[in-house]
Amino acid sequence: MANPFQVSASSSMGAPNEELKGASSGLVGENDLLIVGPGVLGRLVAEKWRQEYPGCQVYGQTVTTDHHDELIKIGIRPSLKGTKLNYRFPYVIFCAPPLQTSDYPGDVREAALSWNGEGSFLFTSSSAPYDCNDNGQCIEDSPVVPIGRSPRTDVLLKAEKEVLERGGSVLRLAGLYKADRGAHAYWLEKGTVELRPDHILNLIHYEDAASLSVAILKKKFHDRIFLGCDNHPLSRQEVMDLVAKSGKFTKKFEGFTGTSDPLGKKLNNTKTREEVGWEPKYASFAHFLGVSN
Ligand SMILES: NC(=O)c1ccc[n+]([C@@H]2O[C@H](COP(=O)([O-])OP(=O)(O)OC[C@H]3O[C@@H](n4cnc5c(N)ncnc54)[C@H](OP(=O)(O)O)[C@@H]3O)[C@@H](O)[C@H]2O)c1
Repeated sequence: MANPFQVSASSSMGAPNEELKGASSGLVGENDLLIVGPGVLGRLVAEKWRQEYPGCQVYGQTVTTDHHDELIKIGIRPSLKGTKLNYRFPYVIFCAPPLQTSDYPGDVREAALSWNGEGSFLFTSSSAPYDCNDNGQCIEDSPVVPIGRSPRTDVLLKAEKEVLERGGSVLRLAGLYKADRGAHAYWLEKGTVELRPDHILNLIHYEDAASLSVAILKKKFHDRIFLGCDNHPLSRQEVMDLVAKSGKFTKKFEGFTGTSDPLGKKLNNTKTREEVGWEPKYASFAHFLGVSN
């Protein structure tokens, strides 16, 4: 099969748009998926996508070649960010974090250019932009922090704008976790953490974030904002108490020592669940750990 990432002489000379063909070219299948940022979440999305569409091709775009061998082994065709594409894809998911780039909104815009508009384009954003720091309630359309107040939320909101303007959708995710990754693992490693214990945070297991992403992609939503969380907000202290209670970790957490940093928020995504027809496999962090709340 031809490789859609090959650079043609015409494309490097400024090919007209119609040369960027989609599924109709016969080279890109109608269910082929491009994953920009095939990291922990992206690889789970790839696995679930292939279960839905056996025989489809899954492509992955990265910043470095560091993980290309790993990607090939799990059936993802890797390419480097910035590689000129000869073809556009019916399904594109951007699930790279904002850490390895100086122009995150620009990267998201580039990814949108790889979408042919037929299936769907999804950007996995974060729930950080919701303007709430008193442990209050937030839902899908709660107000967000105004542009200019925080560089961290500015970057996310500008990236979201690039997506929504092009007909893509946004999935604002709560804190992602699996056994060895996430806030609990980070705090266990540190032992003592200079943050207040009563800050409420929100979680979603990586597998559930992947199943929700796939469900949204499959429904071909356009221009929508969804929320990904398990609807079981916990204080930092409660998270670490559950970790201790589970007996599943060898390290011992000493405690939170902060007193004056901001509080958090309580997320609820009932609307997303109803619209997408999705429920998480892990109903809560306690459920994941196999302990009662
Ligand atoms: N972690 C959380 O708690 C949390 C919370 C809310 C939302 N999110 C969002 O959830 C998504 C998935 O997170 P994750 O933990 O699965 O990510 P991850 O594993 O850290 O993703 C790393 C992968 O992304 C690639 N990458 C990084 N920057 C890129 C860029 N600008 N363009 C293309 N590829 C890039 C890396 O390339 P190399 O292989 O070259 O290194 C690597 O393959 C992200 O969008 C993140 O912002 C995460």
